[in-house]
Amino acid sequence: MKALESVAALGGGSLAASGAVSGINVLGAKAFVSIAADPEQATAMEEVRRDAERAVRNVPGIEQAVVTLTAERAPQAKTSSGAGASPSHAAPRRAAIATLDKIRFVIAVASGKGGVGKSTTAANLALGLAAQGWRVGLLDADVYGPSAPRLFGLRARPQVEGGKMIPLEAFGIKVMSIGFLIDENVPMVWRGPMVSSALTQMLGEVAWGELDCLVVDMPPGTGDAQLTMAQQVPLSGAVIVSTPQDLALIDARRAVAMFRRVEVPVLGVIENMSYFVCPHCGGRTDIFAHGGARRDAEALQVAFLGEVPLDATIRETSDAGQPVVGAAPQGPHAAIYLNLAAKVKTLLETQSRRAPPTIVKG
Ligand SMILES: Nc1ncnc2c1ncn2[C@@H]1O[C@H](COP(=O)(O)OP(=O)(O)OP(=O)(O)O)[C@@H](O)[C@H]1O
Ligand SMILES: [Mg+2]
Repeated sequence: MKALESVAALGGGSLAASGAVSGINVLGAKAFVSIAADPEQATAMEEVRRDAERAVRNVPGIEQAVVTLTAERAPQAKTSSGAGASPSHAAPRRAAIATLDKIRFVIAVASGKGGVGKSTTAANLALGLAAQGWRVGLLDADVYGPSAPRLFGLRARPQVEGGKMIPLEAFGIKVMSIGFLIDENVPMVWRGPMVSSALTQMLGEVAWGELDCLVVDMPPGTGDAQLTMAQQVPLSGAVIVSTPQDLALIDARRAVAMFRRVEVPVLGVIENMSYFVCPHCGGRTDIFAHGGARRDAEALQVAFLGEVPLDATIRETSDAGQPVVGAAPQGPHAAIYLNLAAKVKTLLETQSRRAPPTIVKG
């Protein structure tokens, strides 16, 4: 925020004082800043964005700065029609500043397509990482269709202590979801800016405490909303979930491309619903074909992390609020996720913690 005092805002004065800085997240040497901008001024704001990026990158200890514009009318653009209200009266809004220093790694579980099993994978992966002795949190970033309340069987409302929300806990995992804060039956008509501020809040205004890993369950798709999210959440890496079908794979490729664009390393691809083993005869059927994700991972030069079968037990345990790794940690399904989690843990621990060189986007 101090660095942004040297950046000029469009209407004069400094960017820091303009009230347009809506979020700052710092993870290690990476800083993520979001600036609320009137869409009509997007072109002019691009210069401010670049200045801000340069200023933040010059902060000692910061190696990478990602500054994004969020489509929101800047507060000073909203002129009050109330009598006697002076524009200068508008107090600058305080940016939500989240220093996530107590969280070692933040990873996203994402896919291009909906319904391929991201949430199921994220939950079981989180449990698998916890089983290896890590302190783990799960952030349900799907603000349109939150899954964590159902998956973890959590209903309570988070308590607030010292201005921060205390995440709920299940199987030793700290869980936060927008679903804890709103009623299931309330239709969610989220506008872009609300989505990004909801995420910033769930990152910065939740008492996560010390964590080895925060697993972020991303909403489906690779549109602007997801891109913004991928930029606003300080990610150490991304895990892509895909079914073996060609169509899902095309979307998985898009997801890989999206994370590369925002310079987030793709840790690897998981093929979900990879094959089906008949519980009656033991015969195996490749319902959605098989092996496509592995071939694709090779072509994209990202690691193939493994296969998860299409299995009634996995669905039933998820629906019952007891993800299979928590419900039957010694069982064959848990073994699959534990193996995936071990690979992800090793990848995180061995990947260079230095940020990649900053690419100047034209
Ligand atoms: N390996 C599996 N075997 C059986 N059922 C599965 C498997 N993976 C996921 N499912 C089931 O498929 C459905 C969709 O899974 P899930 O909600 O995890 O997908 P998603 O990608 O998060 O969806 P969305 O895009 O809506 O967020 C759920 O009912 C889940 O229980
Ligand atoms: Mg989901």
